[in-house]
Order: sequence, then C-alpha cells, then structure tokens
Amino acid sequence: MHDFHFQNNELYCERLPVSDIARATGTPFYLYSYKTLTDHFQKIQNAFAAVAPVICFAMKANGNLAVLKALVNAGAGLDIVSGGELQKALKVQADPRKIVFASVGKTDEEIRAALRAGILFFNVESAAELDRINHIAKGENMSAPIAIRINPDVEATTHEFITTGTLKNKFGIDLTSARELLRKSGTLSHTRIIGLHIHIGSQIVTSEPFIKAITRMTNFIEELRAENIPIEYLDIGGGLGIIYKDEKPQTAQEFAEAVLPCLKKTGLKIVMEPGRFIAGNAGIFVTKVLYFKDNGYKKFLIVDGGMNDLIRPSFYGAYHEIVPVQGSQEPTVQLDVVGPICESGDFLGKARQLPMLAPGELLAVMSAGAYGFVMSSNYNARCRVPEIMVKGDQFAVVKERETFEDLIRGETIPEFL
Ligand code: LLP
Repeated sequence: MHDFHFQNNELYCERLPVSDIARATGTPFYLYSYKTLTDHFQKIQNAFAAVAPVICFAMKANGNLAVLKALVNAGAGLDIVSGGELQKALKVQADPRKIVFASVGKTDEEIRAALRAGILFFNVESAAELDRINHIAKGENMSAPIAIRINPDVEATTHEFITTGTLKNKFGIDLTSARELLRKSGTLSHTRIIGLHIHIGSQIVTSEPFIKAITRMTNFIEELRAENIPIEYLDIGGGLGIIYKDEKPQTAQEFAEAVLPCLKKTGLKIVMEPGRFIAGNAGIFVTKVLYFKDNGYKKFLIVDGGMNDLIRPSFYGAYHEIVPVQGSQEPTVQLDVVGPICESGDFLGKARQLPMLAPGELLAVMSAGAYGFVMSSNYNARCRVPEIMVKGDQFAVVKERETFEDLIRGETIPEFL
C-alpha cells in the first residue's frame, strides 16, 4: 500500500529512517515517498490499460513541484483549478494536451492563460461560464475546447463537505440544462464542446456511486448521439477513497473491473482525475512531542504541529493514524494529540492509544500526502513547514521551511501610522 514501514522499531520511508531526516531538517515536516507516488499512479494506469485513459493528477491534492514532476515524468497529466495551478503545471512541463481545468469560478485572466497554453479542455460548470469562455476565445481568435461538467445528482456516501455531485452542491450543470446547452452549442462561434465531465465527491470507498453516475452519463451520451450531438471525451473525475483507519476501499483493479464495461461501451476517450488515491498514502506529517499534560479528566500530548499544518482532523473530523517514529508501538495510555494553536479544534487525533512519549520524541501522522500541506496556513503566525521527498536512500528538501521574512513579505506599516 505504501513505502513507510517499521524495521527494528524504527519508521522508515523507503530506505531512510524518518528520525534521520528529522534530525537533519527539524520538525514538523511533510515527508513524501517517490516510490509510493509513482506506484499508485501506475496502479491506475495498469488497471485501466484497456481504455488507455489520460490520467490527470488532481494537483489540488498535492501541488509540490517535485511531486508534480515525478508524476509528469511517469506520464501523468494534471487536473487544475486555478491560474496558479496552471503556472505550476507549465513549470514542471506537463503536456498541455493532458491538462484539464475545472472550477466554478474561472476568471477572465485564468481562461485566457489556459487558452494560450493549449489545454485539453475546460470543464465548464455553468452556462454563463460557457458564454464567457466563448467571448474570451473570440478575442484571442481561438476556439476553446470544452467539456460540460454534469452534476449527475448522485449521493456519494462521504463527508458532506466533500460531496460534489448532488443538486445541493454548487458544482456542475444539471442534466436538463446541460441538454439545452448542448443543443444550442452550435450557436457559440468560438467554443467546441468535445466532452462530458463528472466528479461526484472525494474519499468514496465503493464503486456503486461511480457506476450510478457513469451509467447516467452513458444514457445521456446515447441520447445526444440520437440527436447527432457528437462527444469525444468522457472525464470521470477523481474521488477514489484510500485507507485512513479501517476503510476497505476498492482497489484500482476492482474499480476498473466495475466501471470498465460502461466506459468501453461509450467508445469515448477516457480522462480521470485521481488526487488522493495517488498522493494520500504517499506522505506523512512528522511532529515532535513538546509536553504532556494531565488535567485529571483527560490526558494531552502537546506536539509542535497543529491544525494550521494539517487541518483535516479539525475541519472534516478526519482520522489519521498516529504512530511513534521510534521505539515500542505498545499502547500504555489514552490521550488527545493536540497542537499549539489557540483553538479547541486544534487536534491531530482524539482518544488515541499510544505508548507514553517523552518531550523530543517523534510522531508520524500517516496518510497525510493529500490535502495536507496544500491546505496549511500561517494562522498564529506560524511558518509553513518544509516538504521533503525520499527516493530510495536519498532525500531532498523540496520546499524549504518558511522564515519570519516569508511571514511578513508584502506587509507594510503605512506612513500615516
Ligand atoms: N476532480 C475534481 C473536479 C475535484 O474537485 C477533485 C477534488 C478531484 C478531481 C480529486 O478528488 P480525489 O481523487 O482527490 O478524491 N480537502 C478535502 C478533499 C477535497 C476534494 C476536492 N475536489 C479533504 O481533505 O478530504
């Protein structure tokens, strides 16, 4: 599943002890395994070989340039959601023909930049956006390639904050409006609708919601064919769940077996946008114990990493396994692992069974490679932590720890004070 493993009571990332890296760089930090990242990409590629999909890594999950480069070198395209992500994608020389751009709120500048870059298509989320893209493409004297993001109105049995494919959500276009849009697409001079897109949510562990959504799409595609509206691409989004605790997610192979028959039936070119499946288990967050506190009611282990570094536990109530980096794993005490932030919601884990650790000892928060660093902030004037990549027995700091200068960059005290 991943390349973090114990050897003689010591956590390793590939062939390096995590504690050696901590000694060299200080804590807290994110640590990524190159091998896990690329293996997971290949797992999807192999499982779906029968339809040879364009696999666009959802870089919102992890946008570090080294992570992107590793995946682009392995053949990945990128799913982007902003002008900043586009620039990062171009910086790692991703093939623009393998870049897809979703977002309910694309600005004129972002649309223009993506047109000029020659991306595969825009995943369009409203009729108003389609008009805007047409207008901008006209100004550029170009024809914009479009996939309509359909909201298939399918429940995705995941956390409500990461469900996207029901009509309660802001994403995509409902089937009735999409039908209208496709019927009059010929009236737009500078766009060509070449695809349909769905993304129903994230951390989905069973294939049923995907099958339901894809079946809705295949029926819709049949309908369009009957009306002579041709479609070339079907983008099935991301959303594949991973193991955080005791989930039993479908494997890439099982997912492929479940959805390939529908996909093949369409005869369309397939695009996928996995994020978490590729990066989630390929990263950990390493933090150091600062203090122990027992208030007579509860025991707390206070560590140097907080919700500003890894917000998933606080924001989604997400569970991340927490393990000592060195020494016995035998639990002797139940405690909350909390950070230094001035918020009661600042915790990495609650009611965890752990060995009693002393100040200075290290903990690894597992499965933190997706939506970890990218969602971190400077709250409480804390410097963002470094990101480190291991490949075999080598490691590199792929993003430096921020400094005080970074914290105040761009801030000024005006003359009138
Ligand atoms: N495509 C689109 C259009 C998306 O909106 C997303 C994720 C993906 C692909 C990738 O989904 P994945 O394969 O990673 O599930 N911050 C949340 C997750 C938000 C997901 C947003 N969209 C979390 O930490 O759980």
